Amino acid sequence: MSDADVPTALRSPSFRRLLSLVSAYRGRILLAMLFMMISGAATGGVAYMIKPVLDRIFIDRNASMLLWLPLGVIMIYAVKGGADYLQAITLVRVEEDILRGLRECLFAHTLRLPLGTLIDSSHGSTLSRMSLDLTLLQQGLAVLARFFLSTFQIVALMAVVFYMSWKLALISFITLPIAFYPLIRFGQKLRQRGERQQEQMGQIMDQFSQSLRGAEVIKSQGGEGFEAQRFAIQARHYFDLMMQMARIQKATVPIMEMIAALGIAVIIYLGGSQVVNGGMTTGAFFSFLTALGMIYEPLRQLSSANNQLQQGLSAADRLFAWLDQAAEGSQRSPTPRPWGTWQCHDLQLQLGGEAILRGLHITLPPLTTTAIVGPSGGGKTSLIRVILGLLPPSGGEITVAGQSIRNLPAGDYRGYFSFVAQEPVLFTGTALSNIAYADAQPDYERAEASARQAHAWDFLAPIGGLKTLIKGNGGNLSGGQRQRLAIARALYLDRPVLVLDEATSNLDSESEEHIAETLSALHGRKTIIIVAHRPRTTRLADQIIHLERGQIVAREQGHGTI
Ligand SMILES: Nc1ncnc2c1ncn2[C@@H]1O[C@H](COP(=O)(O)OP(=O)(O)OP(=O)(O)O)[C@@H](O)[C@H]1O
Ligand SMILES: [Mg+2]
Repeated sequence: MSDADVPTALRSPSFRRLLSLVSAYRGRILLAMLFMMISGAATGGVAYMIKPVLDRIFIDRNASMLLWLPLGVIMIYAVKGGADYLQAITLVRVEEDILRGLRECLFAHTLRLPLGTLIDSSHGSTLSRMSLDLTLLQQGLAVLARFFLSTFQIVALMAVVFYMSWKLALISFITLPIAFYPLIRFGQKLRQRGERQQEQMGQIMDQFSQSLRGAEVIKSQGGEGFEAQRFAIQARHYFDLMMQMARIQKATVPIMEMIAALGIAVIIYLGGSQVVNGGMTTGAFFSFLTALGMIYEPLRQLSSANNQLQQGLSAADRLFAWLDQAAEGSQRSPTPRPWGTWQCHDLQLQLGGEAILRGLHITLPPLTTTAIVGPSGGGKTSLIRVILGLLPPSGGEITVAGQSIRNLPAGDYRGYFSFVAQEPVLFTGTALSNIAYADAQPDYERAEASARQAHAWDFLAPIGGLKTLIKGNGGNLSGGQRQRLAIARALYLDRPVLVLDEATSNLDSESEEHIAETLSALHGRKTIIIVAHRPRTTRLADQIIHLERGQIVAREQGHGTI
């Protein structure tokens, strides 16, 4: 690692945070270092052995050494091999443990971020954070470990070099800083490229995940070629970037080798003249040269260590920046306040600089049914998201039972609602795990009853009931079946407020009739908020709110009955 980069790396907060993660494993790391020292010493031993081998066997022709020295070589390599294995395995365990912690933390934290943040950030870049950035970070950590091993090896080899001839050693090491200079420049360049690599990988992942989700449309419109071409452009950008990085990385090696070759040429000249004059034995000279040559490999490792450390640090920067975003609490009080009249006063919502909801006044008395209707894009789903506490309002006041929800923990507030989204969301698993979602001890009877109420039982029963496998986010079900399963999930939760955002839009009139009956049975027993267009459903409502361009344009008193 170069002089100029060490302070930058140390000053980076990411580096300090990584160190604090690493420091939890002090014991293991010390153990690994011990093995590294043994391995380093053995490396020095290998170079040292050249001197007796040449001087005693080849020049003195000493027969007894012919047996001992080869045995010595085997011993040294055995020690080195054992120590290398043990240090590597000890460190990989530390690395993987840190990675596992970060991976878990990243997943949990991402889900705790506000919905707005998740909607705004592309799936691809979030996915690439989980894959590429973690990989880069792991390489960075691995390199940090190799840094120590290389250092120990260099120290041991230096000892041999100085022992054999301190004058020659001094001359060699004066030229060393010249070899370091290119590394300073390359490290900085790579870090910048590393950031672009992550962005680019994010875009690639984004397009991939979009294409997978849109496979139906792409295939039916014959868009495979078009998508492939679009993808090829992204892949090309990534290729160019990787080539730029490779050019920098790969140039490091020959440049250092060239500098080393110059150094070795001078050493051969100077050392050779010493041997010729009898100032040094042949064995000592070759041992010196071997040790010097062997220093090259750990030095090269150090140089690529710097490059990889820079990439790992830029990945760490991005990971920590993501983790530093404020997350929402999800804790629930053991005894949350009871549900009461929900009211909003002058409710405003801005998204992406646009006013989506403008000055809404709404009162939802407990145990009443409210229908929200209006043209597409009018703001119904957005209002629902505000009601559910998923999007924070930009202005106005929301109260439950006369108390502002500002002081209410998010988990408590969300705990009032069960919800069916406009696009039904299913998870890969069984029908049971979808209905009794996140319930560690699912209640089979309640799940079946909810499925019946949601009119989902008639299609589930013949194909496996609660054990039916739901594949690929519900891809093996029809749109209406997915909706009914999502409704069953909401009914299973049995919370004070049931919220349905166009939950019956995909159903035939008979199924819709059944759902309407279910809702009608719940009428007066739960607070119900329903976004709907068809009179069949709105007829259930006690009040009907007409939302257009984010404003309430009309209110009606409904029948509250079928
Ligand atoms: N994340 C967002 N950023 C910016 N604008 C958004 C965002 N989400 C929604 N909008 C805009 O808000 C407006 C209301 O959208 P919303 O989804 O609430 O409509 P809707 O009434 O539910 O429509 P539909 O009946 O089609 O479901 C739309 O004009 C939409 O473009
Ligand atoms: Mg909507």
